[in-house]
Amino acid sequence: MLSDGVLLLRPPRPDDADDIALACQDVEISEWTTVPVPYERAHAEEWLSRRPDAASWWASPTWSITVLPDDRWSGNIDLRPDGEGGVEVGYLLAPWARGHGHAARALRLACGWAFSGLGAQVVTWYAFEGNVASLRTARRVGFRVPDHVFRGLGAQRGGRRDSWMGTLVPADLAAASGGADARESDRPGRYEGPALTARELSVLGRLARGESNRQAAQALGISENTVKNHVRSILEKLQAKSRSEAVVIGLRRGLTTLHA
Ligand SMILES: CC(C)(COP(=O)(O)OP(=O)(O)OC[C@H]1O[C@@H](n2cnc3c(N)ncnc32)[C@H](O)[C@@H]1OP(=O)(O)O)[C@@H](O)C(=O)NCCC(=O)NCCS
Repeated sequence: MLSDGVLLLRPPRPDDADDIALACQDVEISEWTTVPVPYERAHAEEWLSRRPDAASWWASPTWSITVLPDDRWSGNIDLRPDGEGGVEVGYLLAPWARGHGHAARALRLACGWAFSGLGAQVVTWYAFEGNVASLRTARRVGFRVPDHVFRGLGAQRGGRRDSWMGTLVPADLAAASGGADARESDRPGRYEGPALTARELSVLGRLARGESNRQAAQALGISENTVKNHVRSILEKLQAKSRSEAVVIGLRRGLTTLHA
């Protein structure tokens, strides 16, 4: 799972099928992706059954995009490694989740994972010519997309389509999220409350990974009671009512990351 405190990318689940089937009735999705048309619920079920075990999931990771604190399937993003340091990325958002820059957030998280988790050297993106929303999303995340149309590059339902193509290397991703051109919403929010101690930050990191007090205590070599005290202090400092709220605040404020 990956999160930036606004989105949570989690593995797809069988109960995502209804929302996938609903979203795939959308004309933008038929126009700009390769989903079958007309799209039936059985297509969603078949697609969801393709990665039955962890090994096949890792070979080609795919995440359901959810908008916190909701757990509803609201889009999909996947990485297709070529086994030689290259990864192709694909994504779509449900119509009900569009218009907030969520695709850029999901793309940033997935590309970060491609570099840090899969050891990719480059991520490639392509879109059919005319898909301006996707082009702007890719450029915002740092993809370099030349003003050039690659004739017939993309395949769609038995035909070829003219396409745009771009690439992203780790330095592009870092520059786009921290550079002078980055928007405020692309950066983690600043935390201005009382400082967390180093120990509290490690406990918060453990909470972000979903660990219990006992697991955190074992991992950090301290007693469960001490962990409890740290959790109490974290909640107080972040003004959070629960552990999960503390994690969300921590992610939003850049105090912790989620690579569970
Ligand atoms: C592409 C997609 C994922 C983007 O979703 P999103 O995060 O909600 O995107 P937004 O609505 O925030 O738009 C992203 C940018 O494109 C712009 N944009 C959106 N629709 C546009 C349009 N029809 N024409 C021009 N610009 C458009 C937005 O103004 C925004 O620009 P900004 O970054 O400069 O502010 C979504 O539109 C989608 O799922 N489309 C159908 C499937 C698809 O195209 N997948 C990608 C295949 S390559």
